[in-house]
Amino acid sequence: MTDTQFGPDGWTPARLGSLEGRTYLITGANSGTGFQASRIFLAKGAQVVMLNRNEEKSAAAIATLKQEFGADAPVSFIRMDLSDLASVRAAAGQVRDSISKIDALICNAAIAQVPTRQLTKDGFESQLGTNHYGHFLLCGELFETIEKSAGRIVVVASLGYKMGLRTIQFEDMNWGRNYKANPAYSQSKLAQMMFAYELQDRIAAADRNVTVHVCHPGSSATSLIETSGGLLTRLIFGLMAKSPLVQSAEKGAYPEIMCATEERLKQRALYGPTGRMEWVGPVGEGTLESFAHDKSVMKKLWDRSERETGYHWNI
Ligand SMILES: NC(=O)c1ccc[n+]([C@@H]2O[C@H](COP(=O)([O-])OP(=O)(O)OC[C@H]3O[C@@H](n4cnc5c(N)ncnc54)[C@H](OP(=O)(O)O)[C@@H]3O)[C@@H](O)[C@H]2O)c1
Repeated sequence: MTDTQFGPDGWTPARLGSLEGRTYLITGANSGTGFQASRIFLAKGAQVVMLNRNEEKSAAAIATLKQEFGADAPVSFIRMDLSDLASVRAAAGQVRDSISKIDALICNAAIAQVPTRQLTKDGFESQLGTNHYGHFLLCGELFETIEKSAGRIVVVASLGYKMGLRTIQFEDMNWGRNYKANPAYSQSKLAQMMFAYELQDRIAAADRNVTVHVCHPGSSATSLIETSGGLLTRLIFGLMAKSPLVQSAEKGAYPEIMCATEERLKQRALYGPTGRMEWVGPVGEGTLESFAHDKSVMKKLWDRSERETGYHWNI
């Protein structure tokens, strides 16, 4: 049972007033939902800082945005590869040196359905390392800057969290045995959600001034599978993209923009499309399965993530 709380059309950018003076940081913003979110923020007068891994693609994305919004449009990029902890630390340092205000950090970047097991530079299974550990470190490094602006952290998850093991496989986090693309992707997205819900608890307990929300884009026509998926998955998703069960990348951006801007959103919640299978349709609060906020798993994952990244949160 879903309820958009925003009327029959759900949340749309029509609810946004001027965002002048606001600054949004988006990871993986040169394509897909991150790019579309950048467009909508710029259209409302906000400043956008992209945290992207690819310099050329970023320059092209910025050129496209400047063509639409003018040469002075406040959009820039800082190079950051989430699959490399040293790169994340360096990018966070650059952010702290150059940006004094962060209204929201949107953890949007991801890789998905990587067909064969690959390891990041730091030795993590590639989806876990990129999607979860990279963002875990980035959020920690930028937490105080976000708090100074009473800002938000938005975690972009996936309904895929329900399709894997539905827990964290602590004894083999990096899939040394029995690697399969989908369960490994699912675990990485579940880990991102558990991180967000645990962070909500820690913020509440320590009375800190940052808000955390979790959303997903449903099923959206982006380059996600094209970029990292195997041939068969690419073919299946290519066919699906022509069906009514897939919406535009622009619509897929609505939940993350909503979570970055809307007041009165809930904590233990998952926001996204509320139509068919929650893949498409009006944006609002969707269904959240309880295993995604199993407290004992969340706490264990937090400790493991601190250990693996070598980053200890001051919270
Ligand atoms: N599309 C869907 O149906 C769907 C469904 C469920 C969840 N999601 C989630 O939605 C979010 C956005 O994905 P999307 O669908 O818009 O896919 P996308 O078009 O492929 O965008 C993903 C972005 O992440 C970036 N990225 C990948 N690895 C990175 C790394 N190591 N460091 C920095 N950036 C990196 C990509 O950069 P490059 O351009 O350099 O590759 C790209 O800009 C993801 O969190 C994904 O899990 C999407």
